[in-house]
Amino acid sequence: MNLRHLVGAIAAAAVGLTGCADASNAPDPTARIAPPTAAVSDSFVDAVRQLAAGRGITPMPRAARVRPALARLGQALAFDKVLSGNRDISCMTCHLPQLATGDARHLSIGQGATGLGPTRVHPAGAFIPRNAPPLFNLSALPALFWDGRVAMDAHGQFHTPAGEQLTPDMTRVFEFGAASAIGLFPVLSREEMRAMGGNELAAIPDADNRAMWSVLMRRLGDIPEYRRLFEAAYPGTPFKRMSFAHASNAIGGFFLDQFSFTETPWDRFLAGDDHALSAEQLAGAQVFLTIRCSLCHNGPAFTDNQFHNVAVAQFGPGKGNGPDGRDDFGRMNVTGQLADQYTFRTTPLRNVELTAPYGHDGAITDLRGFIDHYSESDLKLRSFDPTGLEPLLQGSLVLNFDAVLANRDTILNGVVLPAALVDQLTTFMTALTDPRARHLQRTIPTRVPSGLPVDGR
Ligand code: HEC
Ligand code: HEC
Repeated sequence: MNLRHLVGAIAAAAVGLTGCADASNAPDPTARIAPPTAAVSDSFVDAVRQLAAGRGITPMPRAARVRPALARLGQALAFDKVLSGNRDISCMTCHLPQLATGDARHLSIGQGATGLGPTRVHPAGAFIPRNAPPLFNLSALPALFWDGRVAMDAHGQFHTPAGEQLTPDMTRVFEFGAASAIGLFPVLSREEMRAMGGNELAAIPDADNRAMWSVLMRRLGDIPEYRRLFEAAYPGTPFKRMSFAHASNAIGGFFLDQFSFTETPWDRFLAGDDHALSAEQLAGAQVFLTIRCSLCHNGPAFTDNQFHNVAVAQFGPGKGNGPDGRDDFGRMNVTGQLADQYTFRTTPLRNVELTAPYGHDGAITDLRGFIDHYSESDLKLRSFDPTGLEPLLQGSLVLNFDAVLANRDTILNGVVLPAALVDQLTTFMTALTDPRARHLQRTIPTRVPSGLPVDGR
């Protein structure tokens, strides 16, 4: 491609991309393509800071302080396989610290399996329908899971699949919003932790959440060390008056305490350090803040905490949707609204460099590939190549392209990204990495109170 052609393509893209749904927030398109030259000018740096402020992309507020005794209890519970029906899987089996609190798989593999991360295998070839997201900066996320089905609203009300079974007595215990509630749910799932049979939890009917939570508390209460840890974490409350909400709240506290990361080059840049970003990262920031990315990825965690359809290919067991149950309607399964079909929560982007693969089902293996997906995402979806997936998933691609595209977010209409912009955006993502998030081995305890093996040690 000759140079004139390339410049033309970039200029055209600039016009195509800055069209913006929210005119009042629309950045000035003429301010867009101004790559920094050898010395980054002060005015360019200021312009990028202003663009960020205009998108509400402020520094990350520090997470709430967590009582050390509560974090200690939460750590024990998160790594202890005693919370799973057949004592063979813990929360952290799928949220491995050495894999940036994910499992580096397209789709997770639950109880009954062996191995960890990419080498984990299930004897029956079973998968969890979605990708395991990281546990970073949960205090910035009022709605958890890809479809936001565990959420705390602005009035402090909890919205979860447990409905009324999550009582006010339980929510009163929660100190960290949705992060406090999340631990209640993986333990209920047969595929993730509870198992189909072989234990007292599996024998409980699926709808009886409260019975499962009490049986888990009985299991924990049988271990004297847990009674001590719980009573130290909640001074003044005897163990017998506690519910599984106390356990879940402690796990949330542990996550906030250990996986909240606010020291990235980007944060130093926002705080006034003009040299915190490389020239390439700064150029990428300007692109990101000017084109449509930041219409959705905004706020301190780079998510609007809303739900959008960005035309990601579907495969795997699915969430029981569509003609054969293998589709995943995303947020629509929570709200029942057709407008929410195929929408998923805008993914937060801090430490995203470390959390491949990407998307609600891990459809895209590398970061540049996911960003490139936004360029003509309709064509990308239609030509999705399942041979990049692991063999057991290759035959499970759902041919729902027309339905997905019929509801694709209109923000993506006409988006074409020249390769050079994709590169710049990918480079910008590296400015969102806190170096400490690369080294999380220290968060793994040497042992857990049940004495069961600790994965990843
Ligand atoms: C079998 C693997 C597996 C196990 C075990 C597991 N998770 Fe997850 N986790 C996932 C997957 C997959 C998702 C995404 C599910 C979805 O969105 O529907 C998830 C989502 C989450 C999220 C939401 C993050 C976000 O950004 O929304 C949190 C928090 C979390 N898990 C914590 C836990 C805790 C606490 C436990 C133990 C009680 C646990 N997980 C056990 C795989 C697992
Ligand atoms: C219309 C809203 C919207 C726009 C515009 C948008 N995104 Fe996204 N982004 C999302 C949603 C929603 C997801 C999750 C989609 C899914 O899993 O199905 C996502 C996922 C991602 C991911 C994967 C993160 C992960 O951990 O899985 C990256 C990276 C990303 N977006 C970067 C960008 C960049 C760069 C741009 C601009 C070119 C952009 N996004 C534009 C809404 C948007």
